[in-house]
Amino acid sequence: MSILITGGSGYIGSHTVVELLSNNEDIIIVDNFSNSNKVSLDRIKQITNKEFKFYNVDCTDEKELEKVFKENNIESIIHFAAYKAVGESVYEPLKYYINNINSTLNILNLMKKYDVKNFVFSSSATVYGNPHKFPITEDFPLSTTNPYGATKLMIEDILKDIAKVDKSFNVAILRYFNPVGAHISGLIGEDPNGIPNNLMPYISQVAVGNLEKLNVFGGDYDTHDGTGVRDYIHVVDLAIGHVKALEKLRTNCGLVIYNLGTGNGYSVLDMVKAFEDASAKKVNYQIVARREGDVPMCYADSTKANKELGWKAKFGLKEMCEDTWRWQSKNPNGYR
Ligand code: WQD
Repeated sequence: MSILITGGSGYIGSHTVVELLSNNEDIIIVDNFSNSNKVSLDRIKQITNKEFKFYNVDCTDEKELEKVFKENNIESIIHFAAYKAVGESVYEPLKYYINNINSTLNILNLMKKYDVKNFVFSSSATVYGNPHKFPITEDFPLSTTNPYGATKLMIEDILKDIAKVDKSFNVAILRYFNPVGAHISGLIGEDPNGIPNNLMPYISQVAVGNLEKLNVFGGDYDTHDGTGVRDYIHVVDLAIGHVKALEKLRTNCGLVIYNLGTGNGYSVLDMVKAFEDASAKKVNYQIVARREGDVPMCYADSTKANKELGWKAKFGLKEMCEDTWRWQSKNPNGYR
């Protein structure tokens, strides 16, 4: 029986594939490289010395996707494939709804046709909107401020509706906080297309000399140093959270929802300092206007995942920065 990983050549997908292969799982990756690079597949083999199947398929193409179900005996699915840039989603909402919703509906339809029962969904803390108390627990009210977040929330609702009527359907909704870091080998890591939207890849590209300086979006938030606070989680901790979620689904648990974060909030300037310490590189920055749509603060309460999955984030800020720097300094231009 195999595990189908959509978006498995991407940042979080590739790290999760490494953990699953190391656990001797049979893996099938489906990816169209719209936001990843096929070199990551070679690097996964280099790290694990294991083989896996690969299909170059766009998940919005149900006919092509069905071949994967026809040709394999799929037990579970981890669905990473999606567009994820908050800013871009505001200007291209239809592109996000078509890609993120249709790909998921195709997968769910084929799961029903081929009697596949276990589904892990890559959701996001963005579904909590702009919370006013912390830490955030899974029962907080849900809302979104952008089309990207709206696709995540809509898919969560679709999954809840299916699980209500199909008691044999097991689904883990995993709400990621801010994934950062890289595998300790430095062979795989975050490789955003073009100028990075997210903080950590931007900082690491300033440190490696690709970008001149970091623009800090806002210095007047109600936080300890005025800059935005987030719950940064090491991508390997996140990957292990998926392994644990899969184990949970195999107990026929129905629908479960977990925050995957560390419970610690760090500001933008905390991240700059930690990265400079880890890399021994200066990260030049200037404080500019706030970014539209940003929330001042966001960090998790992940005790539910700890209690029910036996999962807890192990890596701290030092490892997050050291591992990011190892990847970036060994791969100044990512996989290109
Ligand atoms: C973090 C902090 C910025 C860049 C988003 C999505 C979330 C998930 C992760 C997909 C904020 C500040 C950033 C920069 C800055 N994506 N910042 N200068 O916005 O918390 O979360 O990405 O799953 O769903 O919402 O992450 O890394 O963009 O920002 O000052 O050049 O860094 O203002 O305070 P964010 P981020």
